[in-house]
Amino acid sequence: MASLIAEAYPEAAEREGAEAPRPIRERLEAAAPEARTGILEAYLRRHVAEALGLSPEALPPDGDLSGFDRDVVAEHVTWTLKEYLDLTLYRTEVRAHPSLASLARFVLDEWERLSRLVGETAEARATVRSFVPPAHLPAKEPHAKERIPDVAFVLSTPRSGSTLFRLMLSAHSRLFCPPELNLLGHPDMRSWSEDRDILMPHEGLVMALATLLEMTRDDADALVNRLVAEARPTAEVFRMMQARLGDRVLVDKTPSNALHLETLERAETLFDAPKHVHLVRHPYAVIDSFVRARFDRVRGDTGDPFAIAEAYWTRMNDNILKLAEKLPAERYLRVKYEDLVCTPERVMRTVCAFLGLSFEEAMLHPYAHSEMFGGPGDPNIFRHTGIIASLADKWKRVRLPRPLGEAARRTAEAMGYALPETAWDEQAK
Ligand code: A3P
Repeated sequence: MASLIAEAYPEAAEREGAEAPRPIRERLEAAAPEARTGILEAYLRRHVAEALGLSPEALPPDGDLSGFDRDVVAEHVTWTLKEYLDLTLYRTEVRAHPSLASLARFVLDEWERLSRLVGETAEARATVRSFVPPAHLPAKEPHAKERIPDVAFVLSTPRSGSTLFRLMLSAHSRLFCPPELNLLGHPDMRSWSEDRDILMPHEGLVMALATLLEMTRDDADALVNRLVAEARPTAEVFRMMQARLGDRVLVDKTPSNALHLETLERAETLFDAPKHVHLVRHPYAVIDSFVRARFDRVRGDTGDPFAIAEAYWTRMNDNILKLAEKLPAERYLRVKYEDLVCTPERVMRTVCAFLGLSFEEAMLHPYAHSEMFGGPGDPNIFRHTGIIASLADKWKRVRLPRPLGEAARRTAEAMGYALPETAWDEQAK
């Protein structure tokens, strides 16, 4: 505990005359490149041992992690690296490493890559794997009178504050708003199970079924495995959930739905007059957050991360805007993230009125009232304990390597976002 405290508060430790180890970030920056992996490996050894309740020497000398609880290790390492190195890693990435040495090399590569990025005049080229057309969705969905009632969608790009918004919604007694279900874009459960990324995309459905069907997580896992083995239509899974909702409305917040217009349009044929809340955020803030959260790694895209982020922001918002053109006014509501965090009560009152519900105070205290934590959303959501209004202005402080392209500019204009020219890094030119 003493060394952890000294590491977290080096100035205080110095004042007390204790010998404070320098924060890991400083130590890495000061070290010769060839010494960095060793420093990081020793650092990880200490933290992994601590997570497992062991002394560092109790871990094998070769750093083999195969005999240990990798979930505990992953949880602790992702937290520690975000806290002390400002590096977002995903638990699946940490779990994938068999030894401390390979984990240290991976962490260092990613940390160095991110440190190089800002200020680099990388060519704006990107190959976005996620834009490849999805599996064929069913040509025919049920007739209008058999459509599934009481479903709403939250449509957004990643990094728009969608996890916070989801938690706020799920604090309402008449809403059931689980983590990403990822169902709409898949015709059946086999296709759903093949959609793999590093965000654990299957967690949300397991959590939702465990809650709704009042079963243990293991039983929900077994149920999902059976649905996958039988390649059951995803429509059936929506129906299964709907049957257990009682007087609640299911809110599906799955950002990847907006990758393809075809997926968004499917909602219109599968559900009975679904409502759509379009959550938008300033592109500078989303692009910056996307790059820092290493979201370009999530779905295996390649190329310049800023270009990938811009392509996601533009394409997903464009798809949602195209859907909105066809919707009657009473079924589409646009919410700006910046308004949500600055005036949450006003915005949530509007959202409730839109959904035909009365406002509930609990929505303003998502960290106290929501039971729907976890799942594949924002990995850093637990780092806050309330709604942080100051993040609304974050886009003003962002520095990007180059101005946005024409397509992104048009989309920003359509959503009323100004794009001041102060945002790109002068040094990069
Ligand atoms: P950063 O952590 O990069 O700032 P999403 O859930 O759609 O992926 O969006 C993640 C973003 O939501 C975060 O990106 C953060 O800006 C914002 N966010 C998360 N928790 C928040 C909170 N408690 N208050 C305000 N904004 C929050």
